[in-house]
Amino acid sequence: MTGQPIPVIIDCDTGVDDALALLFAVRHPGLELRAVSCVAGNTFVDQVVLNTLTVLEQAGAPAIPVARGAERPLIEPVRTAHHVHGRDGMGDLGLPAPRRTPADVDAVTLLRREILASPRPVTLIPTAPLTNIALLLRSHPEVTRNIERIVFMGGAVATGNATPVAEFNVWHDPEAAAILLSARVPITMYGLDVFQRVIVPAADVRRLRESSEPGARLAGRLLSHRDPATYQAPSDGLGDASGGLGDAGAVCSVADPEGLTTHRLPVEVNLTPGPARGQTIVDRRPRPGEAELHGEAREQPLLDVGLDVDVDRYVRLYLAAVEGDQCRGTRG
Ligand code: BDR
Ligand code: CA
Repeated sequence: MTGQPIPVIIDCDTGVDDALALLFAVRHPGLELRAVSCVAGNTFVDQVVLNTLTVLEQAGAPAIPVARGAERPLIEPVRTAHHVHGRDGMGDLGLPAPRRTPADVDAVTLLRREILASPRPVTLIPTAPLTNIALLLRSHPEVTRNIERIVFMGGAVATGNATPVAEFNVWHDPEAAAILLSARVPITMYGLDVFQRVIVPAADVRRLRESSEPGARLAGRLLSHRDPATYQAPSDGLGDASGGLGDAGAVCSVADPEGLTTHRLPVEVNLTPGPARGQTIVDRRPRPGEAELHGEAREQPLLDVGLDVDVDRYVRLYLAAVEGDQCRGTRG
């Protein structure tokens, strides 16, 4: 690693894989985590705050400010993902309650303060519904002058997860996602197409679980979490111990952009009611279509859309940072 660490802020709904993302962000020497803002998504926002503080404590992180944000999307009701992330939204691991308390300012205030106070432009990494970010952009548009870029986990080029076409974070608050896309800063979309591919092999997960170091052990336990709705334990009792990095992959792509292949493409969020609501419509056509030829095309924001990922590179990067052994990383 060369140069100064990249100042980053994570906006999350911790969340099993948000927790993996936080662990990586506090441990990778190329990143300086300046603040964490919390939003309703995988669980209710007060629980997100508790989970976030717990993870930072378990990671032995310094007192990074954590703030409570929006308790519901701009228009929709809260639709948690407890069926995936467990009753506490973070895998029901029975971790001790945090000793720290959140900042005495709300998430939008903290985001504004930390972005504008940073001596170098900040990379904002939302790994959750985009409600806080939309409120920030609408309340304090001046923050964009000190944002280097936004790398968000959300959307899908191909298949959705919340619906056949919509990814959870965008589906949860489509209007907020549309506001994000209109921000006049460079935006990278780390969508389901790459999100679902970065899997840590079983042997590494087992090693993490057995670590004597609390942060690494927590990573192993989080990676072992299974979606109770879909997971069927195999009859041999051994099972597949591998685990997905999920949101943490988006943070890996900030620490090591070369592991993510992106294409600059027009993206639009479908805001209409009905089965396609929350879909990210990514225009991958190689040439103008009928609408363009007939002068009916509308201009869409251009995003750097993640289309391919070097899985092995990000797995090694993650393990090296979380286990504290930079020799195994791609940049160390
Ligand atoms: C996203 O939704 C949440 O369940 C995960 O934390 C991730 O941010 C995936 O669709
Ligand atoms: Ca998340």
